Amino acid sequence: MCNPLLDIQTTVEKSFLDKWGLKENDAILCDDKHNDMFTELTKDFTVEYIPGGAAQNSLRVAQWILNSPNRTVFFGAVGKDQYGELLATKAKEAGVNVQYQINETVKTGTCAALINGTHRNDFRSLCAHLAAANTFTQDHLQKEENQKIIEQAKYFYVTGFFITVCPPAIIQLATHSAEFNKTFTLNLSAPFISQFFFDKLSEIIPLVDVLFGNEDEAAAFANAHGWETTCVKEIALKAAALPKKSTKPRLVVFTQGPEPVVVVEGDKVTEYPVTRLPKEEIVDTNGAGDAFVGGFLSQFIQGKGIEASVACGSYAAQEIIKKHGCTVPSVCKYH
Ligand code: AP5
Ligand code: NA
Repeated sequence: MCNPLLDIQTTVEKSFLDKWGLKENDAILCDDKHNDMFTELTKDFTVEYIPGGAAQNSLRVAQWILNSPNRTVFFGAVGKDQYGELLATKAKEAGVNVQYQINETVKTGTCAALINGTHRNDFRSLCAHLAAANTFTQDHLQKEENQKIIEQAKYFYVTGFFITVCPPAIIQLATHSAEFNKTFTLNLSAPFISQFFFDKLSEIIPLVDVLFGNEDEAAAFANAHGWETTCVKEIALKAAALPKKSTKPRLVVFTQGPEPVVVVEGDKVTEYPVTRLPKEEIVDTNGAGDAFVGGFLSQFIQGKGIEASVACGSYAAQEIIKKHGCTVPSVCKYH
């Protein structure tokens, strides 16, 4: 469950970010002052429209690896328009069973993905205009057909991004998951979630069995807790040890770009090295984290161990880094 967004991707100079008050390597929600930015982007730039939305990206990637349709279902809200139809078509083509809540009056959400260069020293700034995605309501989960889907599901994945939209829906799924001894997984998604939505995030954490994030999100999470450390391993240990409703130990998985993936299971830390991609193979890292989660979950839901799940996460991330946006090659060669 997350925000289904259509990414409007283009290359910009740093001055463009300055003009619109955006930061390098950041992800924010836009406000009214960015309306003209979207107009300028579509008028004066060559843009690519790419299906996006963090969890939807992850599910498309998981389906690509699982190679058997409808193993995953997606909940989120879109408008009744071309962009919404495009998102649904692309997700279905990938094998995701999309169950959108359709808003008749508000437009499908978009996300400006502004890129400069290819690797981490350059930048990539995301500015999401949630629109219809922001209007998701808990009623959608109450529908009979969706109740059935929820009952049949064994794993749940929700992004931190969705905390800005509908926390009661997240609590509903997470509580159901805990009650039936299923697995509830959450992504920290972006530093602003820990900075500005910490109370809501903290209500959900006790129900989280698996927590994903990258190093910046880990640092923002630590800062919000008042933990005086930026050491990713230490933060992961502390996050794993936070109070939890069920007795299952919490798994924390923090990625750090080309640096090792840090995994804490209970009180045990393991680092999994990442094979670095040569610079000439990197097209853009947009969607790397989402792809990692997709690859990880594709194995984890089959009961494969953590090592196999991380290996598949890294494989998926690298395939996405070699292409624009969060898109996968047509055939999956992963075994
Ligand atoms: P974005 O946040 O860019 O996606 P992401 O998948 O998280 O990509 P990042 O580049 O931030 O990756 P990361 O830092 O998380 O992972 P890491 O670098 O550690 O967002 C993309 C999507 O978000 C868009 O489609 C947009 O629609 C959506 N979005 C934005 N706002 C939203 C909102 N409000 N609601 C919903 N959706 C929203 O890398 C992970 C792994 O990749 C590593 O562990 C490694 O295995 C591999 N890797 C990374 N770099 C290298 C390298 N150089 N060589 C080899 N492997 C590498
Ligand atoms: Na990310």
